[in-house]
Amino acid sequence: MRLTVIGAGYVGLTSALAFAVVGHDVVCVERDPVRLSRLLRREDPLGEPGVGELLGQTAVRFVETDPEIDRADVVLVAVGTPMRPDGHADLVQVDEVSRSIAFGARPGAVVAIRSTVPVGTCDRLQTGALLHQLVVSNPEFLREGHALQDTFVPTRIVAGGPSAARAVVEALYAPLRERPCGSGVAAAQVPLIWTTSRSAELAKYAANGFLATKLSFVNEIANLADVVGADAGAVLRTMALDPRIGAGHLRPGLGWGGSCFPKDTRALAALAAGEGYDFIVLRAAIEQNNRQLAQFALMIERETPTDASIGLLGLAFKAGTADTRESPALALAHRLARTGRRVNAYDPAIRSTSDTAISRVDPDALAACTDADAVVVATEWPEFAALDLRALRDVTRGDLLVDGRAVIDPVRAAAAGFRYRGVGGLPAG
Ligand SMILES: NC(=O)c1ccc[n+]([C@@H]2O[C@H](COP(=O)([O-])OP(=O)(O)OC[C@H]3O[C@@H](n4cnc5c(N)ncnc54)[C@H](O)[C@@H]3O)[C@@H](O)[C@H]2O)c1
Repeated sequence: MRLTVIGAGYVGLTSALAFAVVGHDVVCVERDPVRLSRLLRREDPLGEPGVGELLGQTAVRFVETDPEIDRADVVLVAVGTPMRPDGHADLVQVDEVSRSIAFGARPGAVVAIRSTVPVGTCDRLQTGALLHQLVVSNPEFLREGHALQDTFVPTRIVAGGPSAARAVVEALYAPLRERPCGSGVAAAQVPLIWTTSRSAELAKYAANGFLATKLSFVNEIANLADVVGADAGAVLRTMALDPRIGAGHLRPGLGWGGSCFPKDTRALAALAAGEGYDFIVLRAAIEQNNRQLAQFALMIERETPTDASIGLLGLAFKAGTADTRESPALALAHRLARTGRRVNAYDPAIRSTSDTAISRVDPDALAACTDADAVVVATEWPEFAALDLRALRDVTRGDLLVDGRAVIDPVRAAAAGFRYRGVGGLPAG
């Protein structure tokens, strides 16, 4: 099959590589000149495990525009859908790309919208710009830090659109649906749920909305555990063993962020509100998340002088990625810097930042925390759990260690001479 993938970000690049590996003929279009030039040198622009190696092994062609898009059986759209100030998804990139596809792609070609778009977007494109193509909603569920792995071994595939597109979508995914031996999952085919485009679009928002809500609930439990004198860790470990709940997304923290949860929860709430439906659970999850970060910052402010130096461990929005989009670590740094505190940072995946809230990015944790009045863990990198806390305490000025990701053992922290503050016990108000 001949594919054109538009957008070489987390979704587009990993889709392009995976489809090429399983035998499709893939062209990947990227308009960002910096990203494109790295891809032309076969360098990984994302820092995702395995991407660098695969770039050297596949024949994906990277281009600024695809002059042969009329040869494509399927055009996959994987451009950004950031958040507008009013909370709705910004569809400028999707609309722009759709107009160029309409101009170049052959009538009857399948256009698979892999970007996360509000319910009704594919219907609108089908009756508008892409009247002569077959528009399919085919959202992606990958996790950053596991982007390739999730693309090669997806938990599920959902797609919806005109029935004439179904066989093409099934043929596109057929090689990826065979679970490799040793994938750890029962050897059945990866489920492909064929439905309407509206259902596929909502399925993506529903998944992210649910996961974000789960995290907000977990944070509430951790806060409440502290109020009532319970051990949040024991409570959450007990919950994790219930198969109806599951162990994922059960770690308390200073709040969720990233390139997807904040914008997708806001877009889902805005979508519901636009239809006159008050999605109260989701609104509460968003509000709880804002409060969580604010209260976490307040706790640090109460325990440190205004001219304090903070050693911030972690900048990425989660471990396993260099992505700082909507990172709670950076949001926290901004609050602390605004009140006069100086923030030096270390993140295993990030060597520098242009973010004005960060005074300096250091090459290791000890350097970032030297002479710090407080150490703050803001990303759950496994190496932070293994830090030599005595060596850390030797270089800090103050003895406060604030663990915003529940990665440090409080007993070890106390033994090293730190005053440990975890996620629970946030000040009210
Ligand atoms: N990042 C994730 O973990 C993830 C997971 C699932 C779904 N999604 C969704 O997938 C979509 C893409 O996300 P992403 O993280 O891959 O975004 P990204 O910002 O990493 O990549 C998008 C790419 O599209 C390129 N682009 C934009 N307009 C273009 C055009 N006209 N021609 C060629 N290239 C163009 C951009 O330059 C950019 O490189 C979003 O809707 C997002 O919500 C993301």
